[in-house]
Amino acid sequence: MSTFGPRHLLGIEPLTRAEIETVLELSGRFLEINERPIKKVPTLRGKTVINLFLEPSTRTRTSFEIAAKRLSADAINISGSTSSTTKGETLLDTARNLDAMSPDVVVVRHAQAGAAEMLAGRLRAAVVNAGDGAHEHPTQGLLDILTIRRRLGRVEGLTVGLVGDIAHSRVARSNIHGLLKLGARVIVCGPPTLVPAPIERLGVEVAHRLDDILPRCDVVNVLRIQFERQRNGLFPSIHEYALLFGMDSARLSRAKPDVLLLAPGPINRGVEVTPEVADGPHSAILQQVSNGLAMRMAVLQLLCGRTGAEE
Ligand code: CP
Repeated sequence: MSTFGPRHLLGIEPLTRAEIETVLELSGRFLEINERPIKKVPTLRGKTVINLFLEPSTRTRTSFEIAAKRLSADAINISGSTSSTTKGETLLDTARNLDAMSPDVVVVRHAQAGAAEMLAGRLRAAVVNAGDGAHEHPTQGLLDILTIRRRLGRVEGLTVGLVGDIAHSRVARSNIHGLLKLGARVIVCGPPTLVPAPIERLGVEVAHRLDDILPRCDVVNVLRIQFERQRNGLFPSIHEYALLFGMDSARLSRAKPDVLLLAPGPINRGVEVTPEVADGPHSAILQQVSNGLAMRMAVLQLLCGRTGAEE
């Protein structure tokens, strides 16, 4: 009996701890399948997954496509530039026309917060939120948590620092909801202009000096400065941001000896993180991508209503 109740995955906020645990556990089984010479299983044969990405993506779109194909589902990719949204069609009209072709899952990324939820109320297909504005990016939050658990063996009791552009980050919100539900302590840290004060109400600690909180962190998740969502002048210069909040070797040496470094990607090398840290032994950046593929396989399987990975 599956302990995953929702028909859609719109965020981590609505999930129970048991539902998060179900996704994490099933992801582990798909990680094993992804290590096999033959990685395809028949679990979702006959199912159709549409990836409707109206904002750019490398990791999320590609991993949903590979996830669907490894489960033997048909995967169709639609981007903003190749869809009829460029001719003025609304998101809802586009999605309803796709829904008329009877897909089982529509994975949607959109610049507007609430876009996935709006579609979930109107489509027959299950909807996965692959990022809606600055609201949530649930599969990124889940893969970050999966990576922490696999590298450190637990989430409960850990202190996780989310560093950088909290204001514009859907990844931050999904991490916060998931980590708190699993018993971690969360510190959000960045310049005051990039950390909205009300975020404290979610149950996180707010800090503005990375060097003060770093020695307490078991995990540091460095969030990209989202230049595309910002108006100008939120901090004096990229150079100053990198000096105060960038993870470089000197700063890393003042962290816990086994601190884990995460970054959702894409990263601005030399801004949030220097190349030697991004590519160094504390970094799990590429492991996050591998874990994300397995976790998205788990999500597709759970939403398509099957239980247990078929061999
Ligand atoms: N982390 C993330 O969502 O990456 P993409 O924008 O490449 O999908």
